[in-house]
Amino acid sequence: MWFLSALWLLPLVTVQAQEDPHFVAEVLFCQPQDPVVGLVKMFDDSQMFSYNFTNGSSIPRIQEFEKWADHSFPNRANISNDLNLCKGFLGELTEVLTNVTPEAKGTTKVKLMTAQPVRLGEPNTLICFVGNIYPPILTITWQKNGLNVTEGITHSGYFAMTDMTFQTFSYLKISPQLHETFACIVHSDGDDTPAVGFWVPSLVVPSQLLENILCGLGIALGIVLFIVGMVFLYLTFKDRTLVSDCDLLILSLISKKHIFINT
Ligand SMILES: *[C@@H]1O[C@H](CO)[C@@H](O)[C@H](O)[C@H]1NC(C)=O
Ligand SMILES: *[C@@H]1O[C@H](CO)[C@@H](O)[C@H](O)[C@H]1NC(C)=O
Ligand SMILES: *[C@@H]1O[C@H](CO)[C@@H](O)[C@H](O)[C@H]1NC(C)=O
Ligand SMILES: *[C@@H]1O[C@H](CO)[C@@H](O)[C@H](O)[C@H]1NC(C)=O
Repeated sequence: MWFLSALWLLPLVTVQAQEDPHFVAEVLFCQPQDPVVGLVKMFDDSQMFSYNFTNGSSIPRIQEFEKWADHSFPNRANISNDLNLCKGFLGELTEVLTNVTPEAKGTTKVKLMTAQPVRLGEPNTLICFVGNIYPPILTITWQKNGLNVTEGITHSGYFAMTDMTFQTFSYLKISPQLHETFACIVHSDGDDTPAVGFWVPSLVVPSQLLENILCGLGIALGIVLFIVGMVFLYLTFKDRTLVSDCDLLILSLISKKHIFINT
């Protein structure tokens, strides 16, 4: 048994805008298995930066954050102190609490979605979202039609949520074809049964061509209905006996005209 030690360094700032409070948090964790350390800067439940312990650089989650990278971890000099504190806790807690307290575990949730609207045969990215993770030790693999996929896979690293769980994303580059199946397989540490999310291309527009055909058919149907409508309107003008009570409004317009013509 082992422990994860997390230091919620501080909700550094509570940005109070009207009634909506936002939390900026710096979360450092250490654990016995890979990744043995992690440090992320969160804005509410969104990651802004993660820290690269290998060369002490800050990795922005999206390129737009690059300009704030220098200010992302303002107390860099203290990171190694904090890390030592975390490792200290980890050692002590493991010794004291093993076989005393139950091991904390999250039930991982897996969801799959595509980055772009699906078009058969066109490049897309399949996103595997894994939530409610605790501790942040997972192995994520992909299968296509039941066979392991090794190429075109990237992982996001772990995001620290405000409820003290973690989230992660895995991405697979695909060009989906009909009847293909994709699976995102999530192995949690010490859990023999993986959590699996499936995705199949369904209700998709196979190509731009079909979309154009459907659009053309729609317009054609509209034109046909318009002509039918005009024919009925014409018949109404031609032969008043065809007119039912429902057409009183049209009738009143017509009769006015007739009265005008007759007089
Ligand atoms: C962290 O920095 C090292 C050394 O430059 C690099 O090899 C590694 O890819 C970086 N890690 C990430 C997640 O960018
Ligand atoms: C650290 O490594 C990353 C990824 O390899 C690189 O982009 C960055 O420039 C490096 N930063 C420093 C301070 O060496
Ligand atoms: C950082 O460490 C210095 C001493 O090493 C200490 O005086 C300072 O309070 C620390 N800052 C934080 C934010 O922990
Ligand atoms: C597929 O990958 C899983 C997990 O990495 C591995 O256990 C399994 O043996 C692989 N299957 C094949 C047929 O390579």
